[in-house]
Amino acid sequence: MATSLDVLAVHRLCGKSGRTTAVRYAASWPLAVKGNAPSHSFRPTASQSILSLNRHNSDWMLVQRLTFETIPGATALQRDCFPAPFPEELLWSSAHLEEHLRVFPEGQFVAVFDDKVIGSASALIISEENWQAHHDWDTTTGGHFMRNHDPKGTTLYGMDISVHPDYRGQGVGRALYQARFDAVFSLGLARYGTACRIPDYAAWSEAHGGSPIEYCEKVARGEARDRTMTPLLRYGLRYVQVLNDYMDDIESGNSAALLEWKP
Ligand SMILES: CC(C)(COP(=O)(O)OP(=O)(O)OC[C@H]1O[C@@H](n2cnc3c(N)ncnc32)[C@H](O)[C@@H]1OP(=O)(O)O)[C@@H](O)C(=O)NCCC(=O)NCCS
Repeated sequence: MATSLDVLAVHRLCGKSGRTTAVRYAASWPLAVKGNAPSHSFRPTASQSILSLNRHNSDWMLVQRLTFETIPGATALQRDCFPAPFPEELLWSSAHLEEHLRVFPEGQFVAVFDDKVIGSASALIISEENWQAHHDWDTTTGGHFMRNHDPKGTTLYGMDISVHPDYRGQGVGRALYQARFDAVFSLGLARYGTACRIPDYAAWSEAHGGSPIEYCEKVARGEARDRTMTPLLRYGLRYVQVLNDYMDDIESGNSAALLEWKP
């Protein structure tokens, strides 16, 4: 069960037609109301209020830190979010997530709805040199146990994000990204960076021909839509370049789009 320290934000899921409404838990109670705040004020006095609200009002979602209790939900979510042909050995195991919690709890987030983990996002801090080198996933992160986490680094680096297929397009990914951007501010980092999958590249390339670079440039200009890259651009990330041979990912042509956000 989450404690008041774990809970970072409460969002109202508005269904596919609308955005989530963000009622954000800032540093301490009462809740700070930011973004698309509801017109009525919402000020629970303790985390228990939020948790019972979550249970009894089915449209409220929590964004909280990953906890040991939510790890089973987060690993199950991986299997729902990355079906074949995505390689199963690349998914998080409980041992990986336990290590993430031990090494860098401030960078691990989950979205919880109806007591179920419906979204998760993992990140580490990397050095400026590591960021500028633009290596593949394994070399950048140090692998699934994120051995390259550097508390003195400059860049919050997103290792993955996933939203359950039944809850996509309702702002869950945006809410998790808001938690990441908040972490960049609170940790005093220079940027958020990630190299995102481009899973619609294979189909696009079969239909139109063209390289991952041509594809990413089109997506960045809004002339093509990618189910992963497009949402991340909508969150305010800027396209930097393509990284070839980033990870084994047939749908993405083994490439990824390097994206950056600065506070
Ligand atoms: C990518 C992902 C995290 C997005 O999460 P989400 O909760 O569905 O996205 P959101 O509801 O926050 O959508 C954000 C924006 O992207 C747009 N968007 C969402 N899905 C889209 C799609 N399939 N194609 C194009 N645009 C899309 C939305 O319209 C929204 O824009 P708006 O707010 O300006 O209207 C989610 O689809 C996912 O888990 N994908 C599979 C796992 C994956 O590939 N992860 C990335 C690894 S790098």
